[in-house]
Amino acid sequence: MAQTKILITGANGQIGRVLTEELRKIYGTESILATDITKLPITVEPFEFLDILNAQRLKEIVHDHNVTQIYHLAAILSANGEWNPIKTWNINLNGLLSILEIAREREMDKIFFPSTIAVFGNTTPRINTPQDVPLLPTTVYGMSKCTGELWCNYYHQRYGVDVRSLRYPGIIGWQSLPAGGTTDYAVEIFHAALKSGHYECFLAENTRLPMMYMNDAIKATIDLMNASKESIAIRSSYNLAAMSFTPAEIASEIRKHIPNFTITYKPDFRQGIASSWSESIDDSKARQDWNWKPSYDLASMTADMLLHLKETI
Ligand code: SER
Repeated sequence: MAQTKILITGANGQIGRVLTEELRKIYGTESILATDITKLPITVEPFEFLDILNAQRLKEIVHDHNVTQIYHLAAILSANGEWNPIKTWNINLNGLLSILEIAREREMDKIFFPSTIAVFGNTTPRINTPQDVPLLPTTVYGMSKCTGELWCNYYHQRYGVDVRSLRYPGIIGWQSLPAGGTTDYAVEIFHAALKSGHYECFLAENTRLPMMYMNDAIKATIDLMNASKESIAIRSSYNLAAMSFTPAEIASEIRKHIPNFTITYKPDFRQGIASSWSESIDDSKARQDWNWKPSYDLASMTADMLLHLKETI
C-alpha cells in the first residue's frame, strides 16, 4: 500500500488550521499537504496554492505529491454564501465533484467531506433532529452541502469511493476564527468578552443552535476516518452533536468568569437562517457505528476557551 499522503483543502480555514496541525502530529509534517487559495500570515508548510475550481491544478498536485487521502474543507459558509449564490454553489459543489472524480480515477484510500446542520430546513423536526429527515435547506450553502451528501453517497455506491462525512454543528475554538457563518457569534462573543467586556449579538437571545468545541470536532473527524470501512453505514453524512445553547445561555456562562460582561441583541438576516436550523441533533448513529462521544459541554468549553484566549489575545 502506498504511504499515506493527505491533502487538505481549505487548510487556512477555521477547522483546517487546527486539523492540519493535529494530522501532522499523527502522520508527521511531511505527510500532510496543506492547500488553500490564500496563504495567511500563519504559514503551514508543506503548502500549495489551490483554487478548488482549478481541477487541472488539483490533478497536478495530487499527482506530484502522490496524494492518497483528501480532507476537503474548502467552502463558503452559510451567511457569506447568500451574497453570491452562484459562486457559492460553484465552489462548494463543483469543488467536491472534482475531488470525488480524482478519488475515483486514482482509487484513493479515503476522502473526508464536511457537511453541516445547514442541510436542515423549515420542514425538518427541530428538536433532537433524527438522521433521516426531510431536507429543504434555506441557504445556498445548505443546498450545496445537501447535494454534496448525495454525491458522496453516489460515489460510494456506484464506484466504491471510501468517502466519509459529518454534519458539523457550529464549531467553537480559540485557535482560529470562523468566517461568514451563522454560528460565528459563539466564537466572536469570547473575543469581545475579553477585549471590551461587551458583545452585540446578531442573533436573538433565545435562538438555540447545536454547537461543538473544536477539540471534539477534530476528534470526531479523526475517529470517523480511522473507523473500519465496514462500520461506516452512512455514506451521505452522519448527524453529530455535543451541546446546544442560546446566546443568552452562553452569555450567562461567560459571566461566571467575567462578571461584568454584557450582551445586547441586534438580529440581522442571519436570524432567518438560524431559525430554519435544528435546535438539537440526534447523533445516535454516530455513537452506535463508530463510538462517537463528545467530551465538552457548555461549561467546560467556556472555561477552556477563556483560559486559552487569555493567553493569545
Ligand atoms: N458554522 C456553519 C455556518 O454557520 C454551519 O455549518 O455557516
